[in-house]
Amino acid sequence: MPTLTLIEHDGTEHQVTGEIGQSVMQAAMFASVPGIQGDCGGACSCATCHAYVDDHWHARVPEAEGSEADMLEYAVERRATSRLTCQLVISEALDGVVLHLPVSQY
Ligand code: FES
Repeated sequence: MPTLTLIEHDGTEHQVTGEIGQSVMQAAMFASVPGIQGDCGGACSCATCHAYVDDHWHARVPEAEGSEADMLEYAVERRATSRLTCQLVISEALDGVVLHLPVSQY
């Protein structure tokens, strides 16, 4: 299973494994990672699953499009590397991905 690294705003790292096809948000919440709230359950309507793709991974992770990009307008401190993790689907290509969690979600 692919492994993801989620880094809290204070530098605390969490290694999470996820199933292919599962969202990063689901994997993070199953592992009780702080900083991913997922208030809407993955319906792309709350922006509380916001995370920043690590700069070293930015070129390999697609940017937000469509409704995800629209919803990111409501995210606090949106950056070019912002994604909503409920819309980021785990695949072999994401094995080892590093994501940073915004301080606003604590
Ligand atoms: Fe609500 Fe991702 S969980 S937008």
